[in-house]
Amino acid sequence: MRPGDVGVVAESDGALLGVAFCRLFTSDDHGHGYVDDETPEVAVAVAEGYRGGGLGARLLNELAEAARRAGFLQLSLSVDSGNPARRLYRRLGYRTVSDDESGVRMVLAL
Ligand SMILES: CC(C)(COP(=O)(O)OP(=O)(O)OC[C@H]1O[C@@H](n2cnc3c(N)ncnc32)[C@H](O)[C@@H]1OP(=O)(O)O)[C@@H](O)C(=O)NCCC(=O)NCCS
Repeated sequence: MRPGDVGVVAESDGALLGVAFCRLFTSDDHGHGYVDDETPEVAVAVAEGYRGGGLGARLLNELAEAARRAGFLQLSLSVDSGNPARRLYRRLGYRTVSDDESGVRMVLAL
């Protein structure tokens, strides 16, 4: 954990089924989802065999609520343009802020 990290996990009978977390990066050290030093970047994954059942949406909604409570104003993420997860992010309120050969950058206002 680093200062500013926020995360949620989904478990069943002790097995980890999914995770969503966000972390702050800086202009000197960041990935494609970076928008600014105050906006944490989101990562999310659900275990194979459990995808498509609503867990990802629930994790992302819980993460957004936890990040809002922690005082953040927005979240960002990056996704490959062909990844079906893009639809999920759009449904949850993420808006595309850039779209180029290195991927799609999206932001959710909290
Ligand atoms: C993306 C992911 C976290 C979503 O979790 P989930 O529990 O499957 O999501 P939900 O059931 O809440 O929502 C379904 C949506 O997830 C996406 N999805 C479903 N199966 C997926 C898969 N195998 N790979 C990527 N996205 C998938 C689709 O956008 C789907 O929306 P649709 O119904 O409009 O097609 C999960 O599918 C996953 O871990 N995928 C592989 C890793 C990945 O692509 N991570 C995101 C990188 S930006």
